[in-house]
Amino acid sequence: MSACIFDLDGVLVDTAKYHYLAWKLLAKELGFDFLEADNERLKGVSRMASLEILLEVGGMVNVSEADKWAMADKKNKCYVAYISRMTPDEILPGVPDFLHEIKAAGVKTAIGSASRNAGLILERTGLASLFDAVIDGNKISRAKPDPEVFLSGARELGVDPSECVVFEDAAAGIEAAIRAGMKSVGLGHPSVLYKADLVIPGFEAMHWNKLQSLMNL
Ligand code: BG6
Ligand code: MG
Repeated sequence: MSACIFDLDGVLVDTAKYHYLAWKLLAKELGFDFLEADNERLKGVSRMASLEILLEVGGMVNVSEADKWAMADKKNKCYVAYISRMTPDEILPGVPDFLHEIKAAGVKTAIGSASRNAGLILERTGLASLFDAVIDGNKISRAKPDPEVFLSGARELGVDPSECVVFEDAAAGIEAAIRAGMKSVGLGHPSVLYKADLVIPGFEAMHWNKLQSLMNL
């Protein structure tokens, strides 16, 4: 394995809470409540697809395209206000050590995220310098489970997809890794991420050698 490609939201940082707060505020303005359980459905899903789910939860049908764009824009402004205040303390446990370890081992690193705000999050948390390539929602046209984001990552790193391991917290992301012909590690619960080659709860106490042996690489 010569490269690791990381999803950002839910893998390196816990931004799901900010997405939730921003969608909840929009829902409130639209006159309905948006619960944390429904927020699970938005993980790994693009901004406009997330809005469609929100509107479905609120029972809002026949919303014009122009109104949808305005709503997504409003939610994003609120979300950006939250992530603009992020600090390195919000990096998930074990992530910096793991990244430093694999880089020292000569493994290339990339971000493969659906978010159009990935650049701001990487800058605010100080993670940006640890990645050789960043593929985010601004660079791709097809959302996960399409493999585009990960294949672009491999291309930018100059490695073959078969030499890449993808780290993902969303089932659609694991599916994208499989379609890209890459190995995958799920961050979260095996019940959701059962298609991954390996599922771990997080990066704490995780080492590159241990991970490779757990995956039989
Ligand atoms: C994904 C998140 O990483 O990015 C989704 O898991 C989010 O919840 C998507 O909707 C798009 O993010 P953004 O920042 O472009 O609205
Ligand atoms: Mg994610």
